[in-house]
Amino acid sequence: MKIAIIMGTRPEIIKMSPIIARTKKSDSVIIFSGQHYDYEMGMRFIEELRIRTPDYSLKLGKTDPASQIGEMIIKLSKITQDEKFDAVLIQGDTNTVLAGAISSLKNHTHIGHVEAGIRSYDWRMPEEHNRIVADHVSDTLFAPTYNNKKNLLQEKVHGDIFVTGNTIIDAVEKFAPISKTNIVTPDNFILLTLHRAENVDDKNTLTRIMNGILDSKSNVLFPVHPRTQLRLRQFGLYEKLKRSQTVILTGPVSYLEMLDLMKRCLFVITDSGGIQEETTSPKIRKKVLVLREKTDRPEAVNAGISKMVGTESNMIAKAIAETIKDPVIHTSKSPYGKGNASEVIIKIMKELF
Ligand code: UD1
Ligand code: UDP
Repeated sequence: MKIAIIMGTRPEIIKMSPIIARTKKSDSVIIFSGQHYDYEMGMRFIEELRIRTPDYSLKLGKTDPASQIGEMIIKLSKITQDEKFDAVLIQGDTNTVLAGAISSLKNHTHIGHVEAGIRSYDWRMPEEHNRIVADHVSDTLFAPTYNNKKNLLQEKVHGDIFVTGNTIIDAVEKFAPISKTNIVTPDNFILLTLHRAENVDDKNTLTRIMNGILDSKSNVLFPVHPRTQLRLRQFGLYEKLKRSQTVILTGPVSYLEMLDLMKRCLFVITDSGGIQEETTSPKIRKKVLVLREKTDRPEAVNAGISKMVGTESNMIAKAIAETIKDPVIHTSKSPYGKGNASEVIIKIMKELF
């Protein structure tokens, strides 16, 4: 077997790490697309999670998404032609995934899509465009849940579908026991993350969200994604948050820090996909208020762990007040599997090649 494992952003590195740990240098080539170019969004995770140094690390121009995708396709295509892989593995729904899918398709290389079949049915999301394309050109689709498989069957994708669980649960199982942080937090703090384009790139939406958080007067720790940092400053919200007595701002944190913060917090407020999955793990088990109109993780909502809150200030403040009174989760199993997704995926790949 000779496969390429392509990854380009923070969540792809975290979710590919259990798969990479089950491969050897002799059977896999690691390609980092460089989409998350800041050390603290990309390479830091490769080092912290003890992933082999990528065989290829691309450098991309800081341009618009379409040009970046074009640049990635050209560079990935060249590597694919030189290396002649049996297959490539792509993960999730980022621009890196779209570029990896198209470059492999046009070079007649087998595509395995890890985390196939997730849908929000929200066409504002660039992730929805990327995952639909990736799913429809993939040969082997690793769906985390039966619900994801159902989405794929409805769309009549051409590849073979396997339900595997989500590799994020494998990562939590492995890294939660060694999680640690020096970040000082108040008692009973709420952990907040926010980065979706449809939330942070729109001034009104971002202002409403931040007002809801501030109106709740709760202690909130907010590790800020660089995209969000930029928008908070552009929209004049950063200084307001800095002056607040209740919101603590930090830069993005490492994975071991994030796991520790998730374990210690009262509950989580987020628009992240991965965090909605991680919080269902028996090792974390925290309630999540989801700052979105539509979810692509209905399994976490149905399990009573995530709650859809939207982006209106009053709804956010109300949901925070209610969750402070009742933060306990009553289920114990994760809908995203037992933590053996990477084992199943690599077994299938080895049987195929
Ligand atoms: C990307 C993914 C998203 C994923 C997220 C994980 C796409 C379309 N989106 O969103 O699905 O949830 O990663 O965090 O692929 N930036 C930096 N430094 C970096 C990276 C980004 O400053 O290392 C800033 C830049 O201003 C950049 C902006 O963030 O233009 C957006 O970056 P991009 O990678 O396009 O999307 P994300 O918002 O990070
Ligand atoms: N994460 C992290 N540090 C942070 C914020 C998030 O390690 O400061 C982790 C988080 O625990 C999860 C992943 O990054 O494993 C999720 O990434 P993100 O929310 O950026 O993207 P999404 O999952 O929405 O695609």
